[in-house]
Parts: sequence; C-alpha cells; structure tokens
Amino acid sequence: MTEFSRRRFLQSAAAGALAAPALPFGTRTLRSPVAISSANGVKAVELAVQRMIEGWRPVDAAVAGVELVENDPNDDSVGLGGLPNEDGVVELDACVMDGPSGLGGAVGALQNIKNPAAVALKVMRHTDHVLLVGPGALRFAKMHGFPEENLLTEASRQKWLEWCEQRSAVDKRIAPEENGAEHGKEWFDKYKHKTGTIHLGAIAANGDVGSCTTTSGLAFKIPGRVGDSPLLGCGNYCDNDVGTGGSTGRGEAAILANGGAFVVHQMALGKSPTDACLEAVKRVVRLTKVKRLLDGKGRPNFQVHFYAANKDGKVGAAAMYASQYAVGDEGGGRLVDVAALYDEAPR
Ligand code: GLY
Repeated sequence: MTEFSRRRFLQSAAAGALAAPALPFGTRTLRSPVAISSANGVKAVELAVQRMIEGWRPVDAAVAGVELVENDPNDDSVGLGGLPNEDGVVELDACVMDGPSGLGGAVGALQNIKNPAAVALKVMRHTDHVLLVGPGALRFAKMHGFPEENLLTEASRQKWLEWCEQRSAVDKRIAPEENGAEHGKEWFDKYKHKTGTIHLGAIAANGDVGSCTTTSGLAFKIPGRVGDSPLLGCGNYCDNDVGTGGSTGRGEAAILANGGAFVVHQMALGKSPTDACLEAVKRVVRLTKVKRLLDGKGRPNFQVHFYAANKDGKVGAAAMYASQYAVGDEGGGRLVDVAALYDEAPR
C-alpha cells in the first residue's frame, strides 16, 4: 500500500466508524413481543402482541391493532366516527414504518376510507412513494379494493353542529344555550386543541420493530390540514437498530419538533425510552414561543404525548400534562402513567 492509499484507507475507516456508531442495543431474543400505544389502545396493543406471537411482522401487527380503534365508531379521534373538518367531512391521516426494510408509507387528508393505516401499508408495499394525499390517496385506496363509506357518525355530526353554532358570535347560527346566556370558556377549551390519535410501536421477540400512527386529526380543522400523524419523523418513526417513537396530541407541535425521529435519535444516543420522550416534551416547550399557545404561567396550553420502545423491549412515554399510555406484552394490555412535565393542567 502506498503512503497515499494507506492514508485514504485510514480516513475512510475513520469515516465508517463515524457513520455507524456503536448503538446501545444488542441483538437478543425478548421473552415476549412488546407493544406501546396511546391510552385508547389497550385492546390494540394486546392484539398487536398476539399477532407478533403468531409470527406477524411488527408493522403488520401494529396496523392490525390500530384497526380495532379505526373501526370503533365511539372513538371520535380515529377512523370511523372521527370528528370532521370544518365542512363536516372526516379526513384521515396515517403512516406506517417497517424497521427491517427501512420503508414507510403514508396517506394524508383521506376521505371515505375508515382504515387509512392499511392504505398506508399498501403505499409502502406497492409504490415507490412514501406519502399520498387527498383525491390521489382515495383513488389509490379504491384501486386496492378499500370500500368507500360515510365516516361521519350521528354523534360526530352532532358535535360538529354544536361547534358550528358556537364558533362565532357574529354569524347567524345560534346555539340553544346562547339565547340569553353568554359563551362559556368551557366550549372554547373543549374544542380549541381537540385532537386524538393512536400511535402504536411494536417490537417483535427477535428485536425487529415496526410502527404506525392513525388519526382523524384536529377536530374541525381547515379542510386539507394535515397533522403529524402521516409524517414520518413527526407522528411516527422507527429504526430497526434502535426502536420506535411516535406522538399524539397537538400535531403542529410534534411536526415543528420532529418528534418521532427526535425520540428515536435520543434513544440511539443512549437515553431510556422515558427520558427520550421527556427530552421531546422539553423540546416542544423550548420551541413554543407565541403567546396564543401559552397559558397564564407561560407553559404550552396544549397537550402533547411522546411514546418510545427500544429493541430491548423497554417502553416509556411522556407528556406535557398528566396522562396515561397503554403497554402490551404476553401478560396482556394495561394502562400506565406517563412521565408528565407539569403536574397541573394548563390555566
Ligand atoms: N396528532 C394528531 C393531529 O394533530 O392531527
């Protein structure tokens, strides 16, 4: 080897070492597959774990789990019965990510199809794209045989109507209690940042990972608004060398903080899942500067949650304000308290 080529070899060896840092996880066999989700997913994590025990890939198990919630008309934050946009139309967002292949798929502002996570899986497996939105996403879903249906349930239509009647003091719609009564702060608080979503991270017994997030997004949003849930790196992310990360709550905050990818990166740097999520919440606090998003104490006046699971099967979650999340393993599903940055609700 000449001196020149030897130097080049040493340089590229050093660059290689930088490109592939030693990660804090070994390859090991877990006692049981593990799943983590938002609090609305106790049954979803149970099903995801069951599917992984049966040998399903984590991403497929995650989608099977969240479908229980997408199909539930009583969960008004996801799929069928999700709260609509300001025109009264339900628009759904979802994404999936598969650790072993490093691929992801997503759909945004999808109308009339109650299982957007399964459509996102088709985008991942049947296209060279990552994200399809609006009418293109609907056409793609129909090509793949997903049936169109009206997703606005009677209960969600009633809530939308109430919102329409309450939203403005100067239009001609009148809420019944408004005849003589003043608008209370209560309805404003109820709908100001009304979001809901399910994120589900899945770790198979061999350490492979997969993840999924699905939602109807912010209630009464401007048509076409897309939140964090279909954005890989924001509402959902996974890395097969590290684990999974995701978010629920105010999507705009999770987008601006790149929450999902940030959580996974924190774990790659050696943080526990809970600490990785707490770092993400603190990042949201640091990035939230405008007055309309702060309470009287200068704290963000909205909720946001981050969830994490690592390849060792450890899970954790954190939120701005006290809340819970769901964990599943061979023993079943259960709710656990998140690590909350603030004890008291915003004022
Ligand atoms: N995190 C759900 C949304 O904001 O759309």
